[in-house]
Amino acid sequence: MRLAVTTKKQPLKISILSKPIASSIRSILRFVLNDSHRRGLRGKHIRSEWHLRKFVQRIIRKARQSFRDRGIIPTLGRCVAAPFLVLREYKRVRLEFDWKYGVDTEGSILLSKLNIESPNRVHGANYGATPPDIFWQALTRLDVNHRDFIFVDLGSGKGRAVLLASEFPFKEIIGVEFSPELNSIAQENVRRYKSKSQKCSCIKLLCTDFIDFHIPEEPVLFFLYYACKEPIMRLLVQHIKTSVITCPRSIYIVYVNPQLSHMIEDANFVTIILKTETVALYSNTVA
Ligand SMILES: C[S@@+](CC[C@H](N)C(=O)[O-])C[C@H]1O[C@@H](n2cnc3c(N)ncnc32)[C@H](O)[C@@H]1O
Repeated sequence: MRLAVTTKKQPLKISILSKPIASSIRSILRFVLNDSHRRGLRGKHIRSEWHLRKFVQRIIRKARQSFRDRGIIPTLGRCVAAPFLVLREYKRVRLEFDWKYGVDTEGSILLSKLNIESPNRVHGANYGATPPDIFWQALTRLDVNHRDFIFVDLGSGKGRAVLLASEFPFKEIIGVEFSPELNSIAQENVRRYKSKSQKCSCIKLLCTDFIDFHIPEEPVLFFLYYACKEPIMRLLVQHIKTSVITCPRSIYIVYVNPQLSHMIEDANFVTIILKTETVALYSNTVA
């Protein structure tokens, strides 16, 4: 994980990296420096090179002050303990969603450790959950009347994206996942998820390969968080395209970590709404 300093052209990339890091840096500073010096650091994210420069200048100023107030040895002692603090804080920020909603969606799981019958497992991407801020930023950029659309998560894993989507008033939400283990964790998560702001409770979790999934003949918002490698991505794109040609209707595709975005674009049935290193958004309705 590296510190992201991005330009305004890639605003989505910032938050995926800066939230845990900025939070960790703030808590180190709180610890290493004096509590009374933390004013102005709380709640700020590093949004540009200018912010980073200012941030570093502020750290140097406060470090000097800590050396003056506290002395060299105590300040250095606090610096030694700082990496443990970073780890703790980093973990806390990553687990924030699960703690808040009492679910289990975090973590990375190798597909080779799961019992998956589909032969496509060899081209499947390992499990990892969508960062909530990336999801929110992507979804709120789309001018969609949610009530008309079915949200389909292709490779829904433990259901993080499905739960996040339930905060929007979609007509229906469908998660498609080929691992029975992950799918049953997702079902448990949907049962446990408690949110006063939840707007869609019509959630279906199907345990099947998304290549075999019958795409509903209604407006669909497809969500894909880097779920598969090239051979299956080719089939998936063709599957979606055929469905749209057979039954013309409005569709959107939200592709997070869009490493194979060219495969969607080369299929010539959708237009790019937005493309950054973090997310690509497509629609067949945009002029
Ligand atoms: C990176 S995870 C994304 C999880 C979830 N969409 C989220 O955002 O939290 C990718 C998921 O796709 C699933 N997957 C990969 N290939 C698949 C396929 N052909 N059919 C169904 N699921 C698949 C994997 O098992 C994994 O759970």
